[in-house]
Amino acid sequence: MIDIKIKNVRKNFFTVKRGKVEALKGIDLEIPAGKFFVLLGPSGCGKSTLLNIIAGIEKPSEGEIYFGEKLVASSNKKIFLSPKERDVAMVFQSYALYPHLSVYDNIAFPLKIAKLDKNKIDRKVNWAADILEIESLLGAKPGELSGGQRQRVALGRAIVREPNLLLLDEPLSNLDALLRITMRSELRSIQRKLELTTIYVTHDQTEAMSLGDKIAVLKDGVVQQIGTPEEIYNDPINLFVAKFIGSPPMNILDGKLAEKINDKLNFLKDKNINDVVAGIRPEKINIVKKDEGVINGKLKMTGPPGGEPLYYLEAEGNEILAKSSEIGNIKENDEVGLKFGKDDLLIFDREN
Ligand SMILES: Nc1ncnc2c1ncn2[C@@H]1O[C@H](COP(=O)(O)OP(=O)(O)OP(=O)(O)O)[C@@H](O)[C@H]1O
Ligand SMILES: [Mg+2]
Repeated sequence: MIDIKIKNVRKNFFTVKRGKVEALKGIDLEIPAGKFFVLLGPSGCGKSTLLNIIAGIEKPSEGEIYFGEKLVASSNKKIFLSPKERDVAMVFQSYALYPHLSVYDNIAFPLKIAKLDKNKIDRKVNWAADILEIESLLGAKPGELSGGQRQRVALGRAIVREPNLLLLDEPLSNLDALLRITMRSELRSIQRKLELTTIYVTHDQTEAMSLGDKIAVLKDGVVQQIGTPEEIYNDPINLFVAKFIGSPPMNILDGKLAEKINDKLNFLKDKNINDVVAGIRPEKINIVKKDEGVINGKLKMTGPPGGEPLYYLEAEGNEILAKSSEIGNIKENDEVGLKFGKDDLLIFDREN
């Protein structure tokens, strides 16, 4: 178990067509030992680049990386340890098993490279297979396995060396929806069992929220916020994080609302109200009778039959999603009130 420190890491790529691409613009992170840490952000924000730099596959243009007290990468000091020297294991989206080798030999592969003796290899392979519950598959070839089983073999190959650090880059994205959810919880329990420091890359906020002890949200090569899933959900630092986290997404209301909830937002009147937006989570809004809420709105549509109720409303020019209703039998185009606590409103600067 080791902790990882990332200090002011920058990465520039130079391309013919796009010129200089600043993939990472000064990343500072501390990844606590034994924890499940998630790098979350939209496509192109720099997640894989950062993971590859931590792994030792890619060199940082600037900055330093520490594994515990050990400096493993430094642009100034010209230090750059290989993935092997860092003792990291990585699982990619395409988990690239060796098709001609059995499951056993796939998992044993890194141990054979490390020239462990046969008995030791056998013990370790069986240990990993036991944790991943794939003992019965050890004789099979990857071609005979389902996606989830292959995924587990790839994980087996990664953990069998008992590495310092496990790096996972969207490892579940090739699986179907149901299997993803199963694998997510398995991954989480394996990580807990091994107390292996793990960094997991995903663009899927649901995945991040259910897996992470801590999450770092990235956008355009910049860390926006670091926190537990609860902190990021309840107290997003800016509009980007507020919109990116949560499903269904947070409602975003334009400045109009401020004038009605004046005791909380009075101070905004001194500012330019148009530069401010208010966010409110769908589960914080309750549908009540007209004029009994904070604002009035009109029901446009109700959510999927059988699923959790979801109400699509329009209020003062805003589209609003709500998750609960006090009044039964509301129909499309009914005028209703929207009730919520003033403290549930989050106020953001529109710009950042
Ligand atoms: N080898 C490279 N050469 C040039 N540009 C690159 C290279 N690798 C990454 N980039 C650029 O750096 C930025 C970050 O890429 P990266 O692959 O880290 O994003 P990502 O967050 O992993 O995205 P995704 O979710 O799509 O995998 C992108 O703009 C990408 O085009
Ligand atoms: Mg990527």
